[in-house]
Amino acid sequence: MSYEKYADDDMVFVFDHPLIQHKISLLRDKNTDTKEFRELVSEIAMLMGYEVTRELPLQTVEIETPVGIAKAKVLSGKKLGIVPILRAGLGMVDGMLQLMPMIKVGHIGLYRDHETLEPVEYYCKLPEDATEREMVLLDPMLATGGSASAAISFLKQRGVKQIKLMCLIAAPEGIRRVRKDHDDVQIFCAQVDEGLNENAYIVPGLGDAGDRLYGTK
Ligand code: PRP
Ligand code: URA
Repeated sequence: MSYEKYADDDMVFVFDHPLIQHKISLLRDKNTDTKEFRELVSEIAMLMGYEVTRELPLQTVEIETPVGIAKAKVLSGKKLGIVPILRAGLGMVDGMLQLMPMIKVGHIGLYRDHETLEPVEYYCKLPEDATEREMVLLDPMLATGGSASAAISFLKQRGVKQIKLMCLIAAPEGIRRVRKDHDDVQIFCAQVDEGLNENAYIVPGLGDAGDRLYGTK
């Protein structure tokens, strides 16, 4: 297992795999350029996705090999879905798709109003069978937790019952907010930082993930 419980909470997991830690450090560096930043976000998402999918159900089938019949395990039932929170969550999609090309992808568009810091929804499109799937929300940053909590509420309003949240860097405030609002949702993150600054940016964090992914600043 390459993650550990955060603050003894059974629903919050922090990844301690050396490759993930190394790549997060590169991601934090202000000198990391957009191309490398994008590649790193995707790679970390893939490495985390490997563990987040650890409990997917399997079934045994018979497969004919060139030599005989193997009783082999394959994934059973509906596969996962992923839902990136636009924009920055998009950076995590390719990594997850490399791992599981068959998963379905929904999208939730949210931005954090810079005055009120409250999330505003501007788009939502989910797979038709989202209610029968486990849906993993993707967002690199869990700061105040307002965006993630709102996104989880939107999924629940649309009938999704099994939800996980996967982020790269989390602030303790964001973890507390999501745990308080949605105590049924597991949170997976690569690192938990000190806290938030007066603009609700994660400290030390990595800056604005969307801007760094798409070169908008
Ligand atoms: C960032 C980030 C999260 C949100 C986290 O997105 O990707 O969605 O902020 O902050 P919170 O936990 O305080 O809600 P942002 O609103 O900057 O939009 P963007 O992805 O379009 O840049
Ligand atoms: N959103 C970001 O992109 N970075 C932060 O530190 C906080 C919110």
